[in-house]
Amino acid sequence: MALTFLMVKPDGVRRGLVGEVVRRVEAKGLRLKALKMMRVAPELAAQHYAEHRDKPFYPELIRFITSGPVVAMAVEGREAVGVVRALMGATDPVKAAPGTIRGDFGLDLTENVVHGSDSPEAAAREIALYFRAEELV
Ligand code: RTP
Ligand code: MG
Repeated sequence: MALTFLMVKPDGVRRGLVGEVVRRVEAKGLRLKALKMMRVAPELAAQHYAEHRDKPFYPELIRFITSGPVVAMAVEGREAVGVVRALMGATDPVKAAPGTIRGDFGLDLTENVVHGSDSPEAAAREIALYFRAEELV
C-alpha cells in the first residue's frame, strides 16, 4: 500500500476545516496511519519547504506555515500520493476544480488549506520529518 503525507495548513485549522478534510480522506477509502495537531517550528518549515528556498514566495510561505497550528497526517491506500493530490485540487484555489478541497474551500494562493506530498519519495521524506516510526499505526 502506498503512503502519503497530508497537512491541514494553519488557515484550514483556523477556519474549522480539519473535520471536513479528514472526512473526505476517509470517505475516499484512504486509511489514517497517523494524525496530530502541532505547531511547525521555523527549522521544520525550512526542511519541509527546502525545494522552494530560492522562490520569491518562500518567506511568505514560511511565515504562513508557522503562523498557527496545523494537522499532520500519514495516509495509506492504493496510489495514495496521486489520490490525495486529486482530492486537494490545483495549487491555486482559483484554478482548483469544484469538488476538490481547494476548489470548494480556498481562494488565496498562499493560504490554500492543505498540503500533500507530490511523489512517493517526497511522501517518505515528509512523513519522516513529521512523525517518529512508532507514531505510525
Ligand atoms: P503543497 O506543497 O503545499 O502541497 O502545494 P503544491 O505542491 O500544490 O504547490 P507548491 O508548488 O509545492 O507550493 C507550495 C506552497 O507554496 C505556496 N505558494 N505560493 N505566491 C505564490 O506564487 C505561491 N506559489 C505557491 C502555496 O501555499 C503552495 O501550496
Ligand atoms: Mg508541493
